Amino acid sequence: MADDSFDVIVIGAGPGGYVAAIRGAQLGMKMACVEKSGLGGTCLNVGCIPSKALLESSQLYHQAHSTFATHGIQTGDVVLDLPAMMKRKDGIVVKMTGGIRGLFRKNKVTYLDGLGKLAGDGKVVVSDGKGEGTYSAKHIVIATGSSPVELPFLPFDGEHVVSSTEALTFDSVPERMIVIGAGAIGLELGSVWTRLGTEVLVVELLDQICAGMDKEMSGQLQKSLQKQGLSFELAAKATGAEVKDGRVHVNLEAGGEALEEVCDRLLVAVGRRPHTDGLGAEEAGVELDDRRRVAVNDRYETKVPGVYAIGDVIAGPMLAHKAEEEGVAVVELIAGRAGHVNYGTVPGVVYTHPELASVGLTEAAAREAHGDVKIGKFPFAANGRAHSLEDIEGMVKIIAHPETDRVLGVHILGGRAAEMLGEAVIAMEFSSSAEDIARTIHAHPTLPEAMKEAALAVEKEAIHI
Ligand code: NAI
Repeated sequence: MADDSFDVIVIGAGPGGYVAAIRGAQLGMKMACVEKSGLGGTCLNVGCIPSKALLESSQLYHQAHSTFATHGIQTGDVVLDLPAMMKRKDGIVVKMTGGIRGLFRKNKVTYLDGLGKLAGDGKVVVSDGKGEGTYSAKHIVIATGSSPVELPFLPFDGEHVVSSTEALTFDSVPERMIVIGAGAIGLELGSVWTRLGTEVLVVELLDQICAGMDKEMSGQLQKSLQKQGLSFELAAKATGAEVKDGRVHVNLEAGGEALEEVCDRLLVAVGRRPHTDGLGAEEAGVELDDRRRVAVNDRYETKVPGVYAIGDVIAGPMLAHKAEEEGVAVVELIAGRAGHVNYGTVPGVVYTHPELASVGLTEAAAREAHGDVKIGKFPFAANGRAHSLEDIEGMVKIIAHPETDRVLGVHILGGRAAEMLGEAVIAMEFSSSAEDIARTIHAHPTLPEAMKEAALAVEKEAIHI
């Protein structure tokens, strides 16, 4: 095979694309991956990883003020060194990006640096600003991801009206920030800046934060965040904004009333849109749906034979781990294997403190689908390990089928909920019953004992409550 022809060309090196490229190489295919920005895509460069770095640093800073003294640690003045915090975050991104480069070398994936465009007939044109190259492949996988949605009346200016990308790189702590949208991005970045000293107001169109997650749990999270100093304006919408003398005057509508709020920075976090512009998709015959996502069937095939799509650019939750699984599945299908993604067990986590982690059906959805479901709850306030960590907010909630006891959903609000969720995902993957979890030995003392107790509570048999 010539150097410019491949079994598969993947366009986009985010978590979906780079994982697809590596898995394809493992399966013996000649793989290339095209990327115009950084390896690792949004997740690694301006999303999941840098935000988690800042969440960790800001939480430690907050703890230095709040819980260190309770632990018997006197610190004196705790001083924020924002440039050092940002440098640590940037260093992690550089390290992880280098890791992907190394994995490409190890797996003999060809990295094509530039903007990839479908040119029809199994061809991809890659331009890097200096020149163009044309490459051919038996199969092409579109994994171009998504970018922040811009509200027409609040265009990003990169300084005062910003997206998550800029909110990860502020060079000073804003006095006041308004966040539009109480989804994962708004709440995570709102938390970071609140902990560092910003007064944060979150404005949300719906009457609950974390839309789509279990309402009881998101209500509890809202109370925790309010205790930390975040304020919320729910069932409210932003209708416009104007920058005057370096401050943003934001017009809001809430309860039929018009309000004006003023802030230094306005973060717009109202969702993300698929990256299909400039890809040559429609010209090549690829069909887009009404939200300009690439339309695919259950084998990730577009209308054009040999062209596939995965990740944020197709329907479904815009989550890195969902894209990764689809990346593996699509190349396994191309290689003639049985690639498959179980969409019933895609976990979701909001990395606030406490974290809200969830898999499967919410209580409302479970009741609608299965009637009088069984529910077991266990608070971290009754867990020894949580007390030793000085982190007792939240609970585990397990929803089980009324007759079969099969686990339908697990929702965890807690300091380390994300790390605990894996057990629930595996339980659901193996179609476990709540009793299976309840009868599984959990090491003592650990936070996951709260999972076992919640499973016992499904039959009102919890020991410690
Ligand atoms: P989102 O879709 O999760 O939340 C956006 C929120 O904005 C919604 O609650 C919506 O009702 C609200 N909204 C929309 N228009 C509004 C308006 N005009 N005024 C007030 N509120 C308005 O979007 P988000 O947080 O921007 O995240 C984008 C994507 O990235 C999501 O799919 C999210 O799951 C993913 N993500 C996941 C993370 C994680 O897994 N921890 C972290 C960051 C992002």
